[in-house]
Amino acid sequence: MYKIAVLPGDGIGVEIVPEAVKVLQVIGEKFNHQFEYTEALVGGEAYDATGHPLPDDTLKICRQSDAVLLGAIGGPKWEQLPVHLRPEVGALLPLRKELGLYANLRPCFLFPGLTHASTLKEETIAGVDLIVLRELTGGLYFGEKSRQEVEGGIKATDVLSYTTFEIERIVRYAYEVARKRRNKLCSVDKANVIETSRLWRETVMELAKEYPDVETTHMYVDNCAMQLIRNPKQFDVIVTENMFGDILTDEASMLTGSIGMLPSASIGGKVGMYEPSHGSAPDIAGQNKANPLATILSAAMMLRYSFNLEKEAVIVEQAVSKAVAEGYRTPDIMEDGSKPVGTVEMGDVVAGYI
Ligand code: NAI
Ligand code: MG
Repeated sequence: MYKIAVLPGDGIGVEIVPEAVKVLQVIGEKFNHQFEYTEALVGGEAYDATGHPLPDDTLKICRQSDAVLLGAIGGPKWEQLPVHLRPEVGALLPLRKELGLYANLRPCFLFPGLTHASTLKEETIAGVDLIVLRELTGGLYFGEKSRQEVEGGIKATDVLSYTTFEIERIVRYAYEVARKRRNKLCSVDKANVIETSRLWRETVMELAKEYPDVETTHMYVDNCAMQLIRNPKQFDVIVTENMFGDILTDEASMLTGSIGMLPSASIGGKVGMYEPSHGSAPDIAGQNKANPLATILSAAMMLRYSFNLEKEAVIVEQAVSKAVAEGYRTPDIMEDGSKPVGTVEMGDVVAGYI
């Protein structure tokens, strides 16, 4: 039996998560696995119900599960809360930290047939297959935050720090991933300016000696942002720190046609967490318009990384691929001549193909 904590969260989270559960359910029936789901509150809705975006009960349920399936959290309603109660800072970051999820995997590849959903040229993106490993529990997002009155205004401070331990463990993980792929690792930093990045680069250079079979390159983050659009096919595995990875993966999602296609897995602790790379999309929430494929693909990653069910993971990915190839499209990936579907219908199509 596999225990899954289900945290739909806010906005489109409550629409996309049930579609991923629907798909898991079919996998369970077909392959005789028992998935036990425990739903819990997180984010703005949790704040409204309990006064905190990450209630103790939710954390407990996550800790007692084998994996967490998360939708998305946050929205305009909760933006004015003090920073520690805002859903992203008060729930998402502590959840990652408490579960020890230092490695965030964001695979980015283009499904055949989706070349026209992207704003980029077909020849630029056809055949893209890269994965970003984003450090997830350190850096600027976890540094001390403060404000003070200064002459003529206010000064806000965020602290950015990294230890060699934190850098080493994510980079080692990235090397292991590279070994299972095309043996190319690009480490992204801003070592020409930032001290943590200098340490990052020195650490990678040391580790590179242990992985002579992997080709190691270094790139500044601003150049990487440009190269991702100019020639994304040059990349196999990208490893980078928390904030750079956050920004670069939103950018990379455009290579796949839509941010609604980009899944993620966060691992490193006993319990893995799986969530789409996007947010709660308040602009389309409640309209059956959200693309559930990123969440369904995240569930496939759960099967692979938390449950070691590789065959089942591939079957989910193939079902998604088939839905796309057959022309089923939510509005974000719509193109001429396709079959328009909503969130629920897309989930049905994928479940049907399994
Ligand atoms: P967002 O990712 O929610 O939306 C950006 C754009 O992408 C919007 O136009 C949205 O409609 C579209 N989009 C996102 N997911 C989609 C999907 N599955 N299908 C179709 N279109 C999709 O980012 P935004 O607007 O910056 O943030 C909205 C809220 O979400 C904020 O409160 C933010 O803090 C929060 N957020 C939460 C995250 C999380 O829970 N992991 C991550 C990023 C943002
Ligand atoms: Mg983000």
